[in-house]
Amino acid sequence: MTEELNRRKFLTYVGTGVTALTVASSGLGMLAPKAEAKGAKAASHLFGFNKKVSGLNFKPIEPTDKDDLVLPKGYKYDVIASYGDIINQKGDTFGYNNDFTMFFPIQGSKDRGLLWVNHEYTNELWVTGPKDKNGKFTKSQIEKLLYNQGGSIIEIYRDEEGIWKLDTKSKYARRITGLTPFKLTGPAKGSKAVGGSDVVQGTFANCSGGKTLWNTVLSAEENYEKTSEDANLDERHYGWIVEVDPFDASFAPRKHTALGRFHHENSSMGLTNDGRLAVYMGDDKKDACVYKFISKNKYIKSRGKANSDLLEEGTLYAANLKDGKWVALTLEAVREKAAGNKEMLEKFQTQADVLVYASEAAVLLGATPTDRPEDVEISPFDKTVFIAHTNNSDHGNIHGHITRFLESNDDLGSLTFDFEIFACGGRQSGFSAPDNLTFDSGGNLWTVTDISSSSVNKGVHSTFKNNGVFVIPTIGQQEGEAFQFASAPVEAELTGPCFTDDETALFLSVQHPGEETEDKKNPTSMWPHRKGDNQPRPSVVAITGFKY
Ligand code: FEO
Ligand code: CA
Ligand code: CA
Ligand code: CA
Repeated sequence: MTEELNRRKFLTYVGTGVTALTVASSGLGMLAPKAEAKGAKAASHLFGFNKKVSGLNFKPIEPTDKDDLVLPKGYKYDVIASYGDIINQKGDTFGYNNDFTMFFPIQGSKDRGLLWVNHEYTNELWVTGPKDKNGKFTKSQIEKLLYNQGGSIIEIYRDEEGIWKLDTKSKYARRITGLTPFKLTGPAKGSKAVGGSDVVQGTFANCSGGKTLWNTVLSAEENYEKTSEDANLDERHYGWIVEVDPFDASFAPRKHTALGRFHHENSSMGLTNDGRLAVYMGDDKKDACVYKFISKNKYIKSRGKANSDLLEEGTLYAANLKDGKWVALTLEAVREKAAGNKEMLEKFQTQADVLVYASEAAVLLGATPTDRPEDVEISPFDKTVFIAHTNNSDHGNIHGHITRFLESNDDLGSLTFDFEIFACGGRQSGFSAPDNLTFDSGGNLWTVTDISSSSVNKGVHSTFKNNGVFVIPTIGQQEGEAFQFASAPVEAELTGPCFTDDETALFLSVQHPGEETEDKKNPTSMWPHRKGDNQPRPSVVAITGFKY
């Protein structure tokens, strides 16, 4: 191991305190508060982190095909909101296929806050009904299609019994949908590349996302093609990173074109060493690239939400893994590379064109096609960047892996990096198809898996049974080892894990239970098994039982 890596590991070690490490190396299911080393507190303080709960205080579960959200002994879940539930006094309803969640405490409360929830896609069987014989939806079906995607802002609270519930009397609760107007910002706004639009209709295909440093939400438009085609909308208006303020409806929902258009999985925001914004993003497609945007100007905390304008001007880079370099997607570079290629020169005439067709520009400039980069998360411990490469059956990466970027000088603003493979999916690790990622304050990476409904529990995926949540230490002797924390209902995917700040609750989306159902009368899943209900429902849950 190089000296640099040793130093990094040591910093990570002292930065997180040693409890997690001790627990990890002495077996699971035990608390080790006495093992907290002197100095760990000072180090935690130094790193601005107070350890709250070790993610490894549980006995891992075995893979299971049970039609339930299965958790370790001592943990439980409460369903907060399900598809179709009324969320406010106006009568708005919770959308379909909930994905990314992000908790926003109300005035610092531990027991009450807003939960932003993405809604990624719909389903003909349960939402819109089938298309006509010409393969078209009616106007009212298109409305359903668009209404049930986007995002929900719901207000939630923990009652006296510790159960997280929906507050339908909320003054904040509202829907953002495929019908909500969005303004475009940045270089592509009003350009020919987007048909001259500066306002566009709606957001959909909202997969994962992120929180900004100024407490707004970024939601990522991923597989937008089907909906834009079905609703007869200009597909160049989708595939962007969108920003919404859950607390303030007067903050115009916006799409930041400077961050490029591709199949956005999520966004992870940090600061460069000189104070500019760095936003990491994955393009969830086979043979697609990893990106980062660096703002032109510096973040100034006192500017609050005005910092949103930092996402309007800057440079978009894509990663060349062979050279360890971030390649800037500029018009000049693209046109130089495209010299002699009439079709490409026609396509790329302005910087707006480069952003609208960012994935093509990236590959043209030598960025590395990778195996479906999904969530990208900056480690709060050492600023290394974790990327879930979910899988790519086109060349044998069936179970995926998690890549870790090490930016030069630990600076998110660096234009060079090295990388390592942090963990690999497969029988040996117990997980397949890593997707969304989040960290706990014990230095553990929480990873959900997304084996597709058509593959789950079949063939080489049989060993994993249903999709799950895995906890992977990023420090200590068990670094890179996966411990299963949860198992999803039949044909569901678990998405959008998000801890409360005190780590007493984990919000999680259960997406598409019973997705392979063909006959409504005979669903493959009935989760969440509501009394009197006759269908499975994607739902958001709160998991509690975390031990201090
Ligand atoms: Fe919507 Fe990349 O998963
Ligand atoms: Ca995803
Ligand atoms: Ca996925
Ligand atoms: Ca999925």
